[in-house]
Amino acid sequence: MYKSIRPILFTIDPERAHQHALDAVENTRYIFGAHWLMRQLYKTPPKPVQAFGLTFQNPVGLAAGYDKDAVAVRGLSTLGFGHLEVGTVTPLAQYGNPKPRVFRLPEDEAVINRMGFPSAGSAKVVKNLKKLGRCHYAKTSKTRVINLRGFFAEGKRKRSNSKMILGVNIGKNKNTPNAEAVLDYLSLLELFAPCADYLTINISSPNTVGLRDLQGRDALEMLLTQLHKQRKMEEKKLRKKLPLLVKLAPDLSDAELADALDVILDTGMDGVVATNTTIARDPKLGSTKKQETGGLSGTPLKSASEAVLSKIVKKVDGKIPIISVGGIMSPEDAKRRLEMGATLVQLYTGLIYEGPGLVKRIVKAL
Ligand SMILES: Cc1cc2nc3c(=O)[nH]c(=O)nc-3n(C[C@H](O)[C@H](O)[C@H](O)COP(=O)(O)O)c2cc1C
Repeated sequence: MYKSIRPILFTIDPERAHQHALDAVENTRYIFGAHWLMRQLYKTPPKPVQAFGLTFQNPVGLAAGYDKDAVAVRGLSTLGFGHLEVGTVTPLAQYGNPKPRVFRLPEDEAVINRMGFPSAGSAKVVKNLKKLGRCHYAKTSKTRVINLRGFFAEGKRKRSNSKMILGVNIGKNKNTPNAEAVLDYLSLLELFAPCADYLTINISSPNTVGLRDLQGRDALEMLLTQLHKQRKMEEKKLRKKLPLLVKLAPDLSDAELADALDVILDTGMDGVVATNTTIARDPKLGSTKKQETGGLSGTPLKSASEAVLSKIVKKVDGKIPIISVGGIMSPEDAKRRLEMGATLVQLYTGLIYEGPGLVKRIVKAL
């Protein structure tokens, strides 16, 4: 069915089409029985996976950037995913780069984006997650007595969302210099610790100037050491585990990747998400939009993402799980990543070209 509406969707500006799709998937909840129907339509067989101390209903997740402000979590939860990663969220609200900033490359089954972290800001996103009953704060005796109404409302919401693992992807504001980036990430960690099942530290978007420099050994060591310390404090306070994952770029040299992985392992991180979009352009790209500035995703990213995965698998040697993302457009692609050693996979551009039915097709094929 998606293939028949895709030509219409593709006549609309990509960012606008995306916004319509997000609104549609979320607003169906105002239509009696629609979410139930979507759940039946996109229901995936249980293929549970344990990772980071969490149980995922299946290995297929939604990649960061699709629902940046966590506005469609309920609707997206009906599409068969085992987890959703919302964000990237920045501490303060910011507009991102000027539009247009997302481009389809249909001849290449790809997308280029230079969104630059448009974000409603952390306060708003926390509010959205609170409404879903996702945030569980350390209880004092006072809150226990007063908040009975909240308790019942939360219980109801918790039951309806309980199986969906929710990750929050965090990033620094554009105006924060790298020397102060740690403060942005620390504040985000503290704010989202009560609401997230895991956090992904995004230091690999190509669209925030200088962000990827945080993948360098010294900067990364400083950042991750501080975050690990803060995470331990939050875990103690909230009496829950808070896995921290690091999202890496596909464009690191072998030495840079090895350095980053050494630091990730040494600082006690729980996993790696690989990869973000690439700034590389294969000369074989056929689309007129190929020279647009930004990060390329979809089919042309597949081989780079696989190459990085195989290097990471070798280096981490089973010590931490890996989420593979980048150019997964079919069940075969997803199977291959899992066979190569990924524990979970994520999709973004595949959903644009194949539609939401891709999730079910993948899970069924595993
Ligand atoms: C329009 C768009 C926006 C994105 N925004 C983010 C983001 O905010 N944070 C992030 O970590 N990754 C972001 N990504 C990268 C994806 O999460 C993913 O790593 C990348 O697109 C590769 O996967 P794919 O080939 O399946 O799309 C974005 C990708 C696209 C296409």
